[in-house]
Amino acid sequence: LARGAAGPDLAGRHVVVSAGGTREPLDPVRFLGNRSSGKQGYALARTAAARGARVTLVAANTALPDPAGVDVVPVGTALELRAAVLAAAGDADAVVMAAAVADFRPAEYAAGKIKKKDGADPAPVALVRNPDVLAELSAERPRAGQVIVGFAAETDDVLANGREKLRRKGCDLLVVNEVGERRTFGSEENEAVVLAEDGTETPVPYGPKEALADTVWDLVLPRLD
Ligand code: CTP
Ligand code: CA
Repeated sequence: LARGAAGPDLAGRHVVVSAGGTREPLDPVRFLGNRSSGKQGYALARTAAARGARVTLVAANTALPDPAGVDVVPVGTALELRAAVLAAAGDADAVVMAAAVADFRPAEYAAGKIKKKDGADPAPVALVRNPDVLAELSAERPRAGQVIVGFAAETDDVLANGREKLRRKGCDLLVVNEVGERRTFGSEENEAVVLAEDGTETPVPYGPKEALADTVWDLVLPRLD
């Protein structure tokens, strides 16, 4: 009902949205990945475009149609996502990090396919940390005054973890949702609470990912300079 009611209230703004999930390669045919479909990030991109924004969508391994009128930048790994987001963030009014960014990547990449050896146990996979793009954006604000939004998928103590994460990351808004086998991943619906730096909490009832996206833009709008 309320959707689109806002009109072109993001006209003249540039927003960057990351979506999907990064894949961290082990060898040419294998990767460490996650269950993010990208649907929430695409809903954010579509709604921002509908509200008049110029939108850059940094899409990590998604299998969704490009939203009309949106500049889509495909990426694979967390390092590629970081580079694409930072490149687009320089003149952005807001950056929304809806992508599931792998915290770790394999320390080594095997240029050839890893083969099993007769009777031998597999070698353990060593991992190294990926950079935290959201924390970096929040600390450095590539454009002064820009609004930075994070997402947090939690399985336990959802709100307490969310509040702690908002502080730790230093972003302006954090969209917190509870995940599990059945919830959120790949679904068309979402339920969340949006935590703000000023302590306010906006619950968003279970519903279409577009409705949550519009609520995020409603909360970004008054924070834009
Ligand atoms: N994020 C990021 N770079 C990373 C990891 C996460 O930019 N290397 C962003 C995500 O896009 C999301 C937010 O940080 O917007 C929160 O991600 P989450 O995985 O919930 O947070 P973490 O700090 O990685 O905490 P956890 O240990 O719970 O995974
Ligand atoms: Ca993480």
